[in-house]
Amino acid sequence: MASLISETTQKIFTPENLRTAAKQSERCLVVPVRLRRAIKKYLREQEDPYMRRKVLRLSQSFSEIKDVNLHLVAETSKELAEDPLKSMEQSKRWKIKSAYGDIGLTYRDDETVAYVASRMPAVYSACYRVLSEVRRRLPGFLPTKVLDFGAGTGSAFWAMKEVWPKSVEKINIVEPSQSMQRAGRSLIQGLKNLPLIHSYTSLQALTKGISKFEREHDLVIASYVLGEIPSLKDRITIVRQLWSLTRDVLVLVEPGTPHGSNIISQMRSHILWMEKRKCRKAKVNKEDSKDLIDLRSGAFIVAPCPHDGRCPLEKSGKYCHFVQRLQRTTSQRAYKRSKGDPLRGFEDEKFSFVAFRRGQRPRESWPLDGMTFETLKEQRAKRNPEDLEIDYEGLVNIEETADIIPYEEVDPSAYDSDVMETDNVNDTYEDQDQDQEEETVNADLGGGWGRIIFPPVRRGRQVHMNICRPTNQDASEGSFDREVFTQSKNPTLHHLARKSFWGDLWPLGRNVTRTVS
Ligand SMILES: C[S@@+](CC[C@H](N)C(=O)[O-])C[C@H]1O[C@@H](n2cnc3c(N)ncnc32)[C@H](O)[C@@H]1O
Repeated sequence: MASLISETTQKIFTPENLRTAAKQSERCLVVPVRLRRAIKKYLREQEDPYMRRKVLRLSQSFSEIKDVNLHLVAETSKELAEDPLKSMEQSKRWKIKSAYGDIGLTYRDDETVAYVASRMPAVYSACYRVLSEVRRRLPGFLPTKVLDFGAGTGSAFWAMKEVWPKSVEKINIVEPSQSMQRAGRSLIQGLKNLPLIHSYTSLQALTKGISKFEREHDLVIASYVLGEIPSLKDRITIVRQLWSLTRDVLVLVEPGTPHGSNIISQMRSHILWMEKRKCRKAKVNKEDSKDLIDLRSGAFIVAPCPHDGRCPLEKSGKYCHFVQRLQRTTSQRAYKRSKGDPLRGFEDEKFSFVAFRRGQRPRESWPLDGMTFETLKEQRAKRNPEDLEIDYEGLVNIEETADIIPYEEVDPSAYDSDVMETDNVNDTYEDQDQDQEEETVNADLGGGWGRIIFPPVRRGRQVHMNICRPTNQDASEGSFDREVFTQSKNPTLHHLARKSFWGDLWPLGRNVTRTVS
């Protein structure tokens, strides 16, 4: 296929490197052996004969909490905060005390051990997927000081160590459960080159414990915790506090459920609204001079949204979420097994997320600006008759949903067990060559990269995709459109669409015609 040369951008794209830049979905993740080994060792030390029961109970209590959350309209939240005992009737695990100090769920030893065995590998995988995208989209961003809010047993910390193995020097942890803290410490025992770790039981303790100048963190992450805070008001207050502790990037990750996605959407709207209001005020105070505005003022979305406008999925009945497949660890397979049936070798973790960055969204040209595309007819007219191949695939009118996740079923018997790999593991992170992993072409943040939401559907020579995209130059507004790519109209984009998956980016051009069904 011919190279596509952009006239307006410095970058030269080919269909191959467009695909590389667009790809964000990860293949079936294998939890790193050092984490699998740490989990195994920790569980062995607990010598718990009732693990399966505990895993089941934890899973049931998550469902209960989901139900309670669904019924938590403003009135109930208020009631819950004023009368914690009443709330206990609804879910035995709520704990609520002071304003923003001790709300949320309780994690005692039973829940903690079950969490490590069953949930930690999946939550780690979602965090790894999210942070990997942050690294790709912000290649110059190397966080040295990090805050992990509701850190639990450290899933986000482990993901961070994989994504930025050399940069993190200091990490502050906020985790109210002593049991979770103990497990987190036990899991990292023996790891070399650890950053300096400080633990706090609440945000108040953190802000009291360190001076004002030390409060800012390059990266703040809150994974799978906001949904455990029972009211919208409390969540907003906490996220505002987290944002005030963020020097550069704030990442929120929640389960990929309607509730989790709704929380992400609400927090997204709130931070963007708050920062827009601040910018407006600053402009007025500084006599409307754009140049005088602090470079750090404002906020924009690094991922997943390609724009900073209102979420087009709001009130659409759909919810924005993604999926990460992971090979199940031995502990997951052992304790999640039900009624003696063996589990599949993998599981799909659904998650919703948002990554904010301080400052203004950069203005960049869009990847397809200035590109011209040939139709299939034009391409064929240029070919020698002997080069013509019969396109059998296109002749068959099949409909298929592109695999939700870009990989084949994992054969459990082919799975690398923790045991097999234990002996050869170097548990420092220095053996990783981060540079080697860096992608050669990165999608920038200028708004020219839409996001594929939900699995693309292939129908014969067409690919149907749902794309979230900006609708104006500065990406301050966006829409969610169903687009159809046909082989006859644009074989290049059709080819790219066939290779794309849910969660990948989609290159846009300001003048590229699109077909909307
Ligand atoms: C589902 S776990 C997630 C743990 C970890 N972030 C992860 O990704 O694996 C939720 C954690 O949030 C903590 N948590 C709940 N309410 C909290 C609050 N108000 N402040 C800080 N942490 C809280 C719990 O103790 C628990 O460790």
